[in-house]
Amino acid sequence: MDNLDQIVSEARAAFATIADPDALEQVKARFLGKSGQITELLKGLGKLPPEEKKVAGAAINVAKNAVEAALNERREAIRKAALEARLAEEALDVTLPGRAEVRGGLHPVTRTLERIESLFGSIGFDVADGPEIEEDFFNFTAMNTPEDHPARSMHDTFYLQNPDGTVADKVLLRTHTSPIQARYMKAHVERYGQLENMPEIRIIAPGRVYRVDSDATHSPMFHQVEGLWVGEGVSFADLKGVIADFLRSFFESDDLKVRFRPSFFPFTEPSAEIDVAFMGGPLKGRWLEIAGCGMVHPDVLRHAGIDPEKYTGFAFGMGPDRLTMLRYGVNDLRLFFEGDLRFLRQFA
Ligand code: DAH
Repeated sequence: MDNLDQIVSEARAAFATIADPDALEQVKARFLGKSGQITELLKGLGKLPPEEKKVAGAAINVAKNAVEAALNERREAIRKAALEARLAEEALDVTLPGRAEVRGGLHPVTRTLERIESLFGSIGFDVADGPEIEEDFFNFTAMNTPEDHPARSMHDTFYLQNPDGTVADKVLLRTHTSPIQARYMKAHVERYGQLENMPEIRIIAPGRVYRVDSDATHSPMFHQVEGLWVGEGVSFADLKGVIADFLRSFFESDDLKVRFRPSFFPFTEPSAEIDVAFMGGPLKGRWLEIAGCGMVHPDVLRHAGIDPEKYTGFAFGMGPDRLTMLRYGVNDLRLFFEGDLRFLRQFA
């Protein structure tokens, strides 16, 4: 039976060199497979006389069990090694510092716009919108702006180029949010015009506007918030009340004065400039211009199909960038649009 011991140790040695589970099963076949060495011996038993058969059979079975035990041991060792390798690979270093979550914040001008929307929203103003690439008609003509007005010149306004380099006809980057007045009134009349009593128009329209201007208080892109209230019997007194109330809420102070200084705009009559002065703080006593306003010019109403004999309205256009500078004490408008996070983070 030396032969059996040899087979067993051969099997042990063969299994020991193998680290791959599939390869192990292949090697197993050499001993325990259909024509494996142990199987062949078992097959040979039939030729032996009965007494020898018993003894030899028992010895082969012992060897077979030993080979199977060695195989199982090796299977288990391979499985463990694989598990350990995986654990090592997927190990978490719980001592590493965590990744801090960076929280974003709103741009200071966005904060102002949201504040304006919510304050006007509380007295029934909807928010309206319009395109930044505007038609010459809505930007100027519908707003009663004459052909020779300086705002129509190339110096003051960004026109757009056709692919062949010529100036695009009748479109420009809007120079103010006032065209939204014209668009909104037109749509409103199309919707309600045939009714006996047209519902009031009460909107603000915040947005970006563009002019050829750049210094500490002017940026080629800046923001405006247009306001419009049209209805029966709307008066300049309403305008004064709404604006004064808004400014006190916006600056959270009763300690300020509001002044309406006569001015001119083609789309309002009479027109005024709105100035504000604070009674305390670093800007104490200085009058600061923050908006233009007036009673909507009858021709602007007519352009939209609204009867100026029946309806009146007021409008205003204010500079939210300016309001933001005043509220936070910022002295250079360009800081808002440079995208420098060291500056912007201070408001987050
Ligand atoms: N659109 C004017 C501007 O950009 C501002 C303005 C003035 C708007 C008077 C108005 C207004 O609605 O009534 O200079």
